[in-house]
Amino acid sequence: MEPNIQRPESHMIRVGVLTVSDRSARGERPDMGGPAVARAVVESLAGAQVVARNIVPDDQPAIAAWLARGADVLRLDLILTTGGTGFAPRDVTPEATANVVDRAAPGLAEAMRGASLHITPHAMLSRAVAGIRGRTLIVNLPGSPKAAVENLAVIAPVLPHAIELLRESPDAERHHGTPAAVA
Ligand code: MTE
Repeated sequence: MEPNIQRPESHMIRVGVLTVSDRSARGERPDMGGPAVARAVVESLAGAQVVARNIVPDDQPAIAAWLARGADVLRLDLILTTGGTGFAPRDVTPEATANVVDRAAPGLAEAMRGASLHITPHAMLSRAVAGIRGRTLIVNLPGSPKAAVENLAVIAPVLPHAIELLRESPDAERHHGTPAAVA
C-alpha cells in the first residue's frame, strides 16, 4: 500500500472552534463558549489541538465562509461551533452549516439532544446540526458554556472513529484546492 503523504501526523486532531454571537462579535460580551469548548475538546479528545478560533456575528454568510475555509483551506479534522442554534430570529448557525456540508450527520445531533433531554427539557429548543464537508466534520453546539460542554461530552467518545473514517474517505478531496466557496 502506498503511504499517504498528505496525511498530517495521524495522532493529531486539528480542531477549529467558532463562536457565533452578535454581542461577542461586537465586543459587548466576553466569549465564554469558545474558550470552554476549546478546553473541553482538548481534555476529552486525545491528540486534539485547537488550531483555529474565531468569533463571528449571527450572520449566515459569515458563519458559512468561516466553516468552508476551515474545511477547504485549513483542512481541519473537526469544527465545533457554539451558539446560534436556538429559536431566536437571529439564530442561523444550523442553516449556515447545512449550506456548506456535503453530507448530513444527523446521528450526532440526535444523540446530543437525546442525552441533553435528561438534563433539561430546553434541549428540545436546540436546532443544532452536524455534517461533513470534504474530510471535515462540523458540529453545532449550543451557546452557553455549560450546554456546549455537556453536548460535546455526549459525542466525544465517537469522534476519534468518525475522524479516522473521514481520513480514509476516498472522495473527500473534492473541495481541497478550490477557493473557500460557500455552497
Ligand atoms: N443542552 C444541554 N445539555 N444543556 C443545556 O443547558 N440548553 C438549551 C439547548 N440545549 C441546554 C442544551 C437551550 S436553553 C437552548 S435555547 C438551546 O440549546 C439552543 O442554544 P443556543 O441558542 O445558545 O445555541
